[in-house]
Amino acid sequence: MADKVYRASTTAPVNIAVVKYWGKRDPKLNLPTNSSLSVTLSQSDLRTLTTASCSASYPASEGDSLLLNGEQSDVSGARTQACFRELRARRAALEAADSSLPKLSTMPLRLVSENNFPTAAGLASSAAGFAALVRAIANLYELPASPSELSLIARQGSGSACRSLFGGYVAWRMGDAADGSDSMADQVAEASHWPEMRALVLVVSAAKKGVSSTSGMQQTVATSGLFQERIAKVVPQNMAAMEKAIQERDFASFAEVTMRDSNSFHATCADTYPPIFYMNDVSRAAIRAVEQINAAAGRTVAAYTFDAGPNAVIYYLERDTEPVVGTLYHVLGGDVDGWKSDVIKGLKPSISL
Ligand code: PMV
Repeated sequence: MADKVYRASTTAPVNIAVVKYWGKRDPKLNLPTNSSLSVTLSQSDLRTLTTASCSASYPASEGDSLLLNGEQSDVSGARTQACFRELRARRAALEAADSSLPKLSTMPLRLVSENNFPTAAGLASSAAGFAALVRAIANLYELPASPSELSLIARQGSGSACRSLFGGYVAWRMGDAADGSDSMADQVAEASHWPEMRALVLVVSAAKKGVSSTSGMQQTVATSGLFQERIAKVVPQNMAAMEKAIQERDFASFAEVTMRDSNSFHATCADTYPPIFYMNDVSRAAIRAVEQINAAAGRTVAAYTFDAGPNAVIYYLERDTEPVVGTLYHVLGGDVDGWKSDVIKGLKPSISL
């Protein structure tokens, strides 16, 4: 049946790192300079829905294609090509072992993807995007691959994507193999391990970020002295402290490491030459608001973190919703001047993990 269309769909959520990935030791294979750890926002509406299809009836001359949020997107980039190549090779191996299988690996691929949040605004859109792309094609090809194996492939699309193949608390172990075969994600704990954990996303700006994470990382690795200290000492300590805080459900430690690691990452960006600034005045107001909330509570009830953009993600426990979300509304949400009303528009209801 030459005209048969094979199809599979999946969704993947964003993840927000509490120990950040920043720096590539091998840009071609997307191998990181440090391990990282994130929380997957599985219950949020921050996700990518992707449908992958293939058919012998799709004209070979059109090649593979990706429709992202209704617009044709370039698939010729090395990262997307690496994902297609890896997935096709695994499917081809199955077809070679069983001649009754349809030869999907030779057919053009069509991908249709929708994000329900701003693309490339520092909200980890590439993480959800590549995780969904890889899993949709793996499902289409009926690959018997575990989430960790798929994370090896998704990593080559976008580093942080390897963590979106798991729910809950996820570590991406940097590995040390030159071919990247041990640089993959694993689950540190299920979301249900810490049912009280909540995340609040403050969309400070939905604009596309100024410096892409790829060029920001390149510049940081090449020019920041502080970065060397970060990868040698700060991150290994933060990874160990974070895993312990999660295992022990110790929110005060979780929060302190989260905030310190975000500060350390943004400090290395400011230490590049020329400097890179991802946070803006509203981001800094959110930091001060969290400090005030914690001071008023007399204990640490909220933690901020920022990726490569101005938007804040605030982690807190359900029992502290009132002081955290209530105060953020009060401090950042009033209609006092222009930027404050922008923040309130983006203040999403709290997200269970
Ligand atoms: O996966 P990339 O190339 O978009 O880089 C993501 C970098 C950060 O979001 C800033 C940190 C992280 O660990 O997700």
